[in-house]
Amino acid sequence: MKWHVLRPLWVAIGLVGLILVARQFLVPDDFGVHGRNFTYGYYRLSNVQEWKDFPVKFQGRESCAECHEENLAKVNASSHAPVECENCHGPSVNHPDDVELLPLNTTRELCLRCHAFLDYPNSARASLVSIEDRRHKRRYECVKCHNPHDPKEEVE
Ligand code: HEC
Ligand code: HEC
Ligand code: HEC
Ligand code: HEC
Repeated sequence: MKWHVLRPLWVAIGLVGLILVARQFLVPDDFGVHGRNFTYGYYRLSNVQEWKDFPVKFQGRESCAECHEENLAKVNASSHAPVECENCHGPSVNHPDDVELLPLNTTRELCLRCHAFLDYPNSARASLVSIEDRRHKRRYECVKCHNPHDPKEEVE
């Protein structure tokens, strides 16, 4: 065979050899322990434990009841009942132990995430009540007039 054909061939063989050697050192010991029949061997046993140890950031509204019972009762009885507390206040992991206060976000953006009128053909018929940001009291924060825990309630 011609030398200019053989040379790249040796390079390719060398590369494959290098990868096979590197694999011995880099692949974790518990990779593919269940054999080829289980997810084709592409499985790392310790991965399961790592995900089990991953801290849950969102605790759910029932966890607030212990300390914010009034807020919980109010939200649950309002038209905002389908909205999770942590959807507006952020994840409550480590609250109140390390994070004493959860954010009180009063920007219009918080509410517009769900209530912005989208100028698409079917938007007006969508089930969620929507407003046009530019046309709806644009100089004030929404919470000046709407109670976030009970949007039907009149705020002076
Ligand atoms: C073990 C008690 C406890 C639990 C459970 C708890 N909180 Fe709190 N939270 C507190 C305390 C204490 C404060 C400090 C301010 C206060 O006394 O209102 C606080 C403050 C807050 C604040 C800020 C209030 C402000 O005036 O700045 C928000 C918002 C809040 N919590 C939301 C939540 C939400 C949402 C949950 C559930 C996912 C929750 N909390 C669970 C005790 C708790
Ligand atoms: C739609 C968004 C939204 C939801 C859902 C929501 N909050 Fe709030 N919350 C706010 C905003 C905005 C404020 C600040 C209001 C202000 O400053 O006028 C606030 C204020 C608070 C405060 C401090 C003032 C107060 O009333 O004591 C606490 C505590 C609180 N929320 C807890 C909760 C808990 C607990 C839930 C769930 C049961 C919840 N929130 C659900 C948006 C929300
Ligand atoms: C995660 C989505 C979400 C966010 C964020 C949110 N809302 Fe709502 N809002 C809803 C849902 C769901 C309803 C109930 C709609 C229905 O019953 O058809 C609602 C209802 C309302 C209503 C109509 C009340 C009624 O019953 O007539 C008003 C007003 C309102 N929200 C204001 C706000 C304000 C102000 C904020 C910000 C503090 C806010 N919303 C944030 C989802 C959201
Ligand atoms: C200056 C007071 C004021 C501010 C600020 C304000 N609103 Fe309103 N909003 C009202 C009044 C009054 C109504 C009822 C009459 C109307 O439709 O204009 C209303 C109606 C609504 C409705 C329709 C409720 C229904 O049942 O159809 C939604 C949704 C709403 N507002 C969301 C918001 C959001 C989101 C913000 C902030 C981006 C906001 N509003 C800011 C006063 C206000």
